[in-house]
Amino acid sequence: QPLILRTLTDINQYRQTHLRSGEKLVLVPTMGNLHAGHLALVDKAKTYSDNVVVSIFVNPTQFGPTEDLATYPRTFADDCAKLAARGVSAVFYPEVATIYPHGVTQTLSIDFNDTLTKILCAADRPTHFQGVATVVAKLFQLIRPDVAIFGQKDYQQLAVIRRLVDELFMPIVIDSIAIRREDNGLAMSSRNQYLSDDQRQLAGEIYATLQRIKIAILAGNPAQPIIDAAMAALTTRGIAVEYLAYRDADDLTQSLCETNPPRQCRSILLIAARIGSTRLIDNLFVCDS
Ligand code: PAJ
Repeated sequence: QPLILRTLTDINQYRQTHLRSGEKLVLVPTMGNLHAGHLALVDKAKTYSDNVVVSIFVNPTQFGPTEDLATYPRTFADDCAKLAARGVSAVFYPEVATIYPHGVTQTLSIDFNDTLTKILCAADRPTHFQGVATVVAKLFQLIRPDVAIFGQKDYQQLAVIRRLVDELFMPIVIDSIAIRREDNGLAMSSRNQYLSDDQRQLAGEIYATLQRIKIAILAGNPAQPIIDAAMAALTTRGIAVEYLAYRDADDLTQSLCETNPPRQCRSILLIAARIGSTRLIDNLFVCDS
């Protein structure tokens, strides 16, 4: 059974014990309601060390005022059973007041290059990445891991965290895993359970569309008309596209729609779309060399 750490004292005691062992500490931050994607992060963590801490914290500051903070699925007992089966050393499961001693209105203002936290997902969720960067910085300060593992499913989030660590010279290795998917291609997400069976089936169209665009781009077609047509087709099927972008994978602020970049350029398609009131995101590398 993993140790359940709830307070700052618990964390400090845990660190003291493990510092003596000399083993690396690997952190996997999550909001719980764990699925196979989260467990794949744990497996990646275990390739670094047996000393793996998973944090489960539904972070209020990354939810907008009209978002699903109150209804976000909380399944702590089930999550712990899954983590026990995976051989995780400890679960950090703090109270909101532990992470935000001065209240949840306190977030860091993170404006790296004035755009990374304002584009793509931030157009619809303007305060989201401030909240993510704040909680991840706090978790890093508290737990002081040697390595932290994130999923490429939240590709912009991963970019924000890499910037955070770079800008603040945090001595933490950031590693990532590829997206884990359902059989129909839908990227696994805790929010998928908001979908009805029909909606879940329809949601497979998002990944299918990304794959078709990728093939067309690699065949040498200009990206923008393909993307425009794909957005229209998704909309017709009842998938409301928020954005569908083709970007430099190392600098998400750079659009590649007009340039038809060379094949050795690292490039990625990113999408956010709504089915009913459920917001889904996905992405696919076009070139990943
Ligand atoms: P959460 O949505 O619980 O995701 C936790 C981690 O799991 C993230 O790094 C996310 O990218 C990864 N993940 C989720 N679905 C995945 C999938 N289908 N395949 C691979 N990885 C997947 O992301 C958050 O929580 C929060 O923003 C957090 C970083 C914990 C800060 O609050």
